[in-house]
Amino acid sequence: MAAPLKSATNAVKKILMTRPTYFTVKYSINPWMDPSVPVNEEKAGKQWETLKSALESAGAAIEVLEPNGAENFPDLVFAANAAVVRGKRAYLANFHYAERKGEKFFFDRWFKENGYETVGDDEIAFEGAGDALWAQKNRSKLFCGVGPRTDARALDDVAKKLKNDEPFTVFGCQLVDPRFYHIDTCFCPLNEEVAIWYPKAFDQVSQHNMKNEIELVAVNEKDAKNFACNAVVVGKNVVMNQGSDETGKTLEKLGYKPIFVDMSEFIKSGGSAKCCTLLLE
Ligand code: ARG
Repeated sequence: MAAPLKSATNAVKKILMTRPTYFTVKYSINPWMDPSVPVNEEKAGKQWETLKSALESAGAAIEVLEPNGAENFPDLVFAANAAVVRGKRAYLANFHYAERKGEKFFFDRWFKENGYETVGDDEIAFEGAGDALWAQKNRSKLFCGVGPRTDARALDDVAKKLKNDEPFTVFGCQLVDPRFYHIDTCFCPLNEEVAIWYPKAFDQVSQHNMKNEIELVAVNEKDAKNFACNAVVVGKNVVMNQGSDETGKTLEKLGYKPIFVDMSEFIKSGGSAKCCTLLLE
């Protein structure tokens, strides 16, 4: 693995990851999941450790949720879907599919035990940071994916319940390709000004509106299908699944360093590096 670039700032990114103790594919709720294709669980465990080390080397501080009692929730490893966090408040997911609804209990417990207040809504489908990405350090702008997993009503509810004394802006982005069912599978802000994305995952109106908000650099379809946008940005390092060389070159031109890790086992569940992480601080 290439040596990460050291960040000029000393702001440490704090990230939550769930240990993949019970990770497997035993149901199908997205086009990537086929329960007849076996997951190599031992390999998944090693890939998860490698991802965690890569993020730590890049300068992130990782908190680990131990999935005690969660043997019926193989997707709990996708911590991105737990919630969207602002300050010490977590707006919890309300999962779209029955198979994942029970995960809320474990994430809620972790947040409460770790000093966070939890809010949310039991009527409105919302899948956490899988569908909600901050584009700014001060968390003043939130891009939300809407459609497959998250209900448009979540946009106002998240804005209301996370605003505290400092309101922020929420942008709804309509997802239209079933392969890219969460916004973090097709859009990744690198900083306040620029993001990489796969434009065709969004409807025309969203494409237009997003271009007005942030500079967008497209990844090709091959890399998009290889989860190039499902990347974790830590300082100037971008940790992602291996094999997206063209996107790697694009990132280098933008002054970022791609760090490739093998996420093959998680991709069998429709998730990659970013899906296994949740931005806390
Ligand atoms: N199997 C999981 C699901 O379909 C994968 C979740 C991926 N998470 C993400 N943040 N994109 O719900």
